[in-house]
Amino acid sequence: MARGAAFLGSEVAIMAGAMSWVSERHLVAAMSNAGGFGVIACGAMTPELLDAEIAGTKALTDKPFGVNLITMHPALTELIAVCARHGVGHVVLAGGLPPKGSLEAIKAGGAKVICFAPTLALAKKLIRSGVDALVIEGMEAGGHIGPVSTSVLAQEMLPEIADQVPVFVAGGIGRGEAIAGYLDMGAAGVQLGTRFVCATESIAHPKFKQAFIRASARDAVASVQLDPRLPVIPVRALKNAGGELFTAKQREVALSLDEGRVAMTEAQLQIEHYWAGALRRAVIDGDVEHGSVMAGQSVGMVTKEEPIAEIIAALIDEAAHALDKRAA
Ligand SMILES: Cc1cc2nc3c(=O)[nH]c(=O)nc-3n(C[C@H](O)[C@H](O)[C@H](O)COP(=O)(O)O)c2cc1C
Repeated sequence: MARGAAFLGSEVAIMAGAMSWVSERHLVAAMSNAGGFGVIACGAMTPELLDAEIAGTKALTDKPFGVNLITMHPALTELIAVCARHGVGHVVLAGGLPPKGSLEAIKAGGAKVICFAPTLALAKKLIRSGVDALVIEGMEAGGHIGPVSTSVLAQEMLPEIADQVPVFVAGGIGRGEAIAGYLDMGAAGVQLGTRFVCATESIAHPKFKQAFIRASARDAVASVQLDPRLPVIPVRALKNAGGELFTAKQREVALSLDEGRVAMTEAQLQIEHYWAGALRRAVIDGDVEHGSVMAGQSVGMVTKEEPIAEIIAALIDEAAHALDKRAA
């Protein structure tokens, strides 16, 4: 983990992946204070809100943390400027390929850039464009997902790119033995989301946490695409009535497309806004029936609420044992 930890400036190379509404100042600061690396989820925040969130996080920790920005945010340039003003050390770009000039702008502001690499070809392209590190995330993860599993992505990509930039593996990691496995394969570190939702320091609604504690792996299912003309990125969440509401939303947006009332980009934006609202409804309001309870397949390994430092300690302990057994 030394390479990943040196890159992040943390004690251990475990990132708490940004989770909209969940990854705010308390969880992020607690993660970094526990020796890991917290990442603020900017999501749809305005530059003013992000400014306040970064300032609030800095008040709770003097350890390094990152900020996750969504590439299609209309105010991306201003958000990058906010990060630079605060001297944020690491910006994670999510939601598609970085728009022209964004990598350069982040680096000019003094931060390192971390991007998600969905395929080997795009990973190589991103490395050529100057990214400092990559995350490869499999379809076991919670939230928006790609079509390929973590184990396949890791086998396909790590041997080709792990010596060029630090690579963090994400999706489906619930225990330290899996972390040891990916480190063995060349990863510099890992990123977990689902495992941290029920941390004591997480502000997620008690009902949201309860749903995680009750759920098993097979409850965390991917959304289906209703209309072939309307490409929606699948989202993995716990099965509930909200899933049907999403199907209805897709039907409504597809009809607007048919009738020429919206263009394709606007239609896709409407879908993304829908997810942000549905996630807020579940995380903040506690409506786990009609909101979106985004969760990865590792949710079955979340069995109680516990301080983030204990989660990190357990993961490191499991990883160390696994590596010791191999050395023996
Ligand atoms: C509730 C929830 C919300 C998420 N929101 C975001 C987000 O806003 N931006 C992002 O890049 N990833 C998001 N993710 C993905 C996480 O950052 C992380 O990569 C993922 O959870 C790792 O897989 P795991 O859930 O199997 O640990 C979210 C995940 C969850 C569970």
